[in-house]
Amino acid sequence: MKPDLATDGHTTYDLIVANGLIVNAGGSRQGSVLVKDGRVVDVIGADQPLPPARRIVDATGILVLPGGVDPHCHVGQVLGEFSMLDDHEQAGIAALWGGTTTIIDFAIPDPGQAPLEALHEKLKLLDRCRTDVAIHGAVINWDSTTKAQLKAMAELGVLTVKMFTTYRDGVMASFETIENVMRELETLGGMAIIHAEENHLIEDTQEKAVREGREHARFHPESRPEAAEAAAVVRSLELAEKTGASVYFVHQTTPEAVDLVADARSRGVRAYSETCPHYLTLDDTVYEGEHPELFVCCPPLRSADTVKNLRALVGDGLVHTIGSDHCCYSREQKAKHSHDMRSMPNGLPGAESRLTVSFDTLVVQQGMSVESFVALFSTNPARLNGLSAKGWIGPGSDADIVVFDPGLTKAITAAGHHMNSDYSPYEGMTFTGWPTAVISKGNVVVDSDGFHDPGPVGRFLHARARIDSDPALPPQAAAGLWARDAPSTTDYATKEVLT
Ligand code: URP
Ligand code: ZN
Ligand code: ZN
Repeated sequence: MKPDLATDGHTTYDLIVANGLIVNAGGSRQGSVLVKDGRVVDVIGADQPLPPARRIVDATGILVLPGGVDPHCHVGQVLGEFSMLDDHEQAGIAALWGGTTTIIDFAIPDPGQAPLEALHEKLKLLDRCRTDVAIHGAVINWDSTTKAQLKAMAELGVLTVKMFTTYRDGVMASFETIENVMRELETLGGMAIIHAEENHLIEDTQEKAVREGREHARFHPESRPEAAEAAAVVRSLELAEKTGASVYFVHQTTPEAVDLVADARSRGVRAYSETCPHYLTLDDTVYEGEHPELFVCCPPLRSADTVKNLRALVGDGLVHTIGSDHCCYSREQKAKHSHDMRSMPNGLPGAESRLTVSFDTLVVQQGMSVESFVALFSTNPARLNGLSAKGWIGPGSDADIVVFDPGLTKAITAAGHHMNSDYSPYEGMTFTGWPTAVISKGNVVVDSDGFHDPGPVGRFLHARARIDSDPALPPQAAAGLWARDAPSTTDYATKEVLT
């Protein structure tokens, strides 16, 4: 982080992020971002003199990105006997360190609990948020009250509803429930969020694994085959096509699943693909190591070939968002049932590492443009969830900004991260591209001096109806603010070790 420039005189702006390459999904330009009252007021070109401001953060020679929007982040969730180890204070601080300024969490009902009640419970837990937070609702069973509950949830600003096609006796929804919910969401302008793994295929494989004594965590990948993911995507897409609903698939791990969504889109279905940093960087050889349980997530990490092919599809623009699927567990929690993958807590900690791991993988190693990366990391998650002030930098956007050094290389370690997990799936691995300053609603929360706690300033964000029917969205966000400017020609593909 470079030192602040001198900033005395007549204060007009609260903050200026000066002289960086400002990257929006639609294009980039060299310039400075002027901030007042938590919002971006203006963006001026590099040739214009800086007006007075209380503080100037110098971004000369580096990038200025919209704050990250994490579309898939489990915070403090209780699933069966395991509780995740963070709340919105801890998860928010970790996310801010990692350049994410908006989190989308889930309100997942406990067994027997109504979805609306789960939402009310979740909303009570948002009083210590450090980031702004939106919520996905969830439905497990359709009954005579669900329609009214979905309407009430929509009125509270929750238009995205998650359903799991697996985890029977837990949170699994039947395809009949999924169809009913999709039909309702279509009328509300919402979107179904699907965890796609065909449960009966998984149970068949797991029963066979148990008969053969292969239920240890090291056999986790073979117990949840790629075919199970594809099968559930096919059935969910059929229902989206039948009901006209928008559908978003969380954590897609295979080229086949992504291709199915792309085919459906070509038939006019509003279908979207999310993948996660771990599915682009880690492969199933980790399950042969000393601690396979630390990598147990659903779907599992796939073969190196699948990872390579999935990355290629992300490079081709077929994936719309990168979510962390953050689940904060300890080594002890992961180890408790490592002898039986059916009873383990699933998921990996990742809210903090989402930016750096995916930037290194997609931009540094694969040569993706930074503009396309911003779309995956920030703009598309905001747009698909109706968060119109998020995911772009320009007059009227929230002043959520990441000053980002694309050439800085550092290792990720659990000792160095801020998530409340005592391990990292990336322990000791080096990644290039790190934030040097993070600004959340105009507050500099991370800089070279460390973390500056903004306090519980996070707001609950009400989602508006989906982007393709949202007249309130600023046209410059929809079109890509800088689409008229020439795309960046900077070469980020060189991996240079600076630290
Ligand atoms: O393994 C995972 N992903 N656990 C978290 C819950 C979910 O399925 O998203
Ligand atoms: Zn899931
Ligand atoms: Zn998840």
